[in-house]
Amino acid sequence: MVIRRDAPTDAWIIIAIHSTRLGPAAGGTRMKSYLDVPAALQDALRLAEGMTYKMAAAELPRGGGKAVIALPPDFDTAARPSLLRRYGELIHQLGGTYHTGPDVGTSSEDMDLIAETGAPYVHARTASRGGSGSSGPATALGVYSGIQATWEWISAQTSLAGVRVLVQGAGTVGGPLMDRLLEAGAQVSFSDVEETVVRRYRDERGLTFVPPEQVYETECDIFAPCALGGVLNRETIPRLKCRAVAGSANNQLAEPEDAERLWARGILYAPDFVVNAGGAIALTGLEALGWPETEAESRVKEIGPRLRRIYEMAAAQGITTEAAARKMAEARLEPGRMNQMPHVTVL
Ligand code: PHE
Repeated sequence: MVIRRDAPTDAWIIIAIHSTRLGPAAGGTRMKSYLDVPAALQDALRLAEGMTYKMAAAELPRGGGKAVIALPPDFDTAARPSLLRRYGELIHQLGGTYHTGPDVGTSSEDMDLIAETGAPYVHARTASRGGSGSSGPATALGVYSGIQATWEWISAQTSLAGVRVLVQGAGTVGGPLMDRLLEAGAQVSFSDVEETVVRRYRDERGLTFVPPEQVYETECDIFAPCALGGVLNRETIPRLKCRAVAGSANNQLAEPEDAERLWARGILYAPDFVVNAGGAIALTGLEALGWPETEAESRVKEIGPRLRRIYEMAAAQGITTEAAARKMAEARLEPGRMNQMPHVTVL
């Protein structure tokens, strides 16, 4: 881990590198405020581990890492560009060990700022700065492909027409995901905590809005968590009235036992690090591996068939889908290297 307190803003910059076994550690930059610094550290560590599994499962030549910029409660947004440039310097100092992209709280415009000092290790810059733009639409395409495969597994139906999908979080990924689902004739409802987002989809587009406190007990076919992690836990799982969970949020399970809790309830779970890999796949491919657009798209669409193999493996071995997905990823990772003690550097 690289940890730095940014003196001018009092923000904490945390870069967690979980594995470089398959290539440079890559993962987005999350920027938000946290309860305290340990909470931010823990988030960075868990997210970095998730990236290792994501990259391995997606068969990309990348390891796992994540950055968290924990903002102070009174953060002055005018300080944002300079903070991002200092963060870019830190990435540049790591000399390619860590590559980044957008995540919760950061955009392609932010990537442009980070890349001013952090190049060439910054993905998803805007087109005007030579990047491929937001990773949200590609992540949404992958989740959509995953929802198709998930629905087909439980219903033997290839069409999503009339299927009730509840999207939690109509943001960078949830928004384009809803567009795809609507196009396919699904019956889409959504939840969000931001008034402007609620107005856009409920009032302007006429979608059914589910208040945040009612999300877990709302009946639907597929629940798609596309906001923050930890939403599948001992308290919410008993309340769920869905047949499957498939969404883009990272770290949806609060603890490992939640995979068994879902399984015991007969709810099919699409492991988050498999179904939400579309952005990482597309951006790494387009910007670092030289793939043309067509290849990036077809590789993102492999998420559905990959999930199907995971469902088959889980069913055949009598294990959870989470366990099957981890096995699949671990087959690409040398087990001995995964248990190293973390290195801590304070710069
Ligand atoms: N934040 C994203 C994720 O969690 C997307 C991303 C990762 C984009 C790595 C580019 C590179 O996967």
